[in-house]
Amino acid sequence: MAQLWGGRFTKETDQLVYKFNASIAFDKRFYAQDIKGSIAHVMMLAKQGILNDIEKEKIITGLTGILDDVTQGRLKITDQYEDIHSFVEATLIDRIGSTGKKLHTGRSRNDQVALDMKMYIRDEILILDNILKNLLYAVIGIMEDNLDTYMPGFTHLQKAQPITLAHHMGAYFEMFRRDHERLLDIYKRMNTCPLGSGALAGTTYPLDREYTAKLLGFDGPTFNSIDGVSDRDYLLELLSALSIIMMHLSRFSEEIIIWNSNEYQFVEIDDAFSTGSSIMPQKKNPDIAELVRGKTGRVYGALNALLTTMKGLPLAYNKDMQEDKEWAFDAIDNVKGCLTLFEGMLRSMQFKKDRMEASAKQGFTNATDAADYLVNHGVPFRDAHGIVGQLVLLCMERGTALDDLPLSEYQKISPVFKEDIFEAIKLKNCVDRRITTGAPGLLSMKEALLVYRRYMEEY
Ligand code: ARG
Repeated sequence: MAQLWGGRFTKETDQLVYKFNASIAFDKRFYAQDIKGSIAHVMMLAKQGILNDIEKEKIITGLTGILDDVTQGRLKITDQYEDIHSFVEATLIDRIGSTGKKLHTGRSRNDQVALDMKMYIRDEILILDNILKNLLYAVIGIMEDNLDTYMPGFTHLQKAQPITLAHHMGAYFEMFRRDHERLLDIYKRMNTCPLGSGALAGTTYPLDREYTAKLLGFDGPTFNSIDGVSDRDYLLELLSALSIIMMHLSRFSEEIIIWNSNEYQFVEIDDAFSTGSSIMPQKKNPDIAELVRGKTGRVYGALNALLTTMKGLPLAYNKDMQEDKEWAFDAIDNVKGCLTLFEGMLRSMQFKKDRMEASAKQGFTNATDAADYLVNHGVPFRDAHGIVGQLVLLCMERGTALDDLPLSEYQKISPVFKEDIFEAIKLKNCVDRRITTGAPGLLSMKEALLVYRRYMEEY
């Protein structure tokens, strides 16, 4: 056991307490951020005359050596240290002697861990955002290939009105682009440097906080030292953004599972992204989509757990806050995995255009257009709705579609109908007349794609 704080203690820490308290098992993942933060701290201490240049060089060389050795696998981070901060400091002292003991001047583990976590999360946000970008490109690709792939649009999972697959995918593009903007927004708001907040009350050394903030790529230092060490809002914001990403992926997964079902057969998930059954030889299951849907609960759990951890904490730092890490790491790892797999599944998935179009032709998805036809010929909408309702009933009795009902039957219910009703309710026409902004008509969708392509160029 190697601890930084033995001085005022007369007994060894109980083994169980030590294990319970330790965080090295999970905070070792930000060793690089911890060391880079320390290097910036030392540069600032030297610039301010708190360390001399020889000490500075010695410490920085020592720290760089540790960073390289851990990264190359020459130095193992072991559980005999309480946390990553203790590991780095103890290893430094081991390697360069007592000069290493000056590293922690004007710093507390409270501002140190706040810094490490922010630096780690900033890096992860950029990685997440890049994976999201690939997914957005996959969605655009499907849109471009399916401007004339007609399918039923649903409400209440009942066939409602005809749309195209491009239009349906466009809805997901909108969701994922909001996710991208949320991530950027969080990055912008969290990008202030807590280093120099000390334990909670700053420090009596003449630290140059602006300088360390700049060295580490922050927009500036945090503005209140109590908040600097006790703020975990950015993690809650990230977990909330990740929860929303998972909610989007989960809805998409649910649709893919339905579309891939034997009854729908709108899509076929590629063999490489499906799994079989140990007993039923015919089965090909959409496990990836199901797992993505399933893991959503886990990410929501992380958000709930951290909100609950934070709700009763008095200012400033409390050890409870150590609990922020495993939740955040688990959520980030899972979302990265889900986004990547989902993209692969999507890119390799086959869309069965014929099945989609056939489905749109059944189920009276053009009934609204038949009513609109009457309205365009002067019938008030409410009456038109009633007339088409009667026609639908008649079709249902006869087992036919509106398209195949003879004109004479139309005219029995309303003489307003003429031969051109059949043009008006043709699937393609129903879709292509919808050209207001955001609608599925070809003109609107082409416009949307132009906007999306431009959006991606600036991503
Ligand atoms: N492992 C701790 C954490 O993650 C580091 C900060 C420890 N600070 C302290 N005062 N015990 O929060």
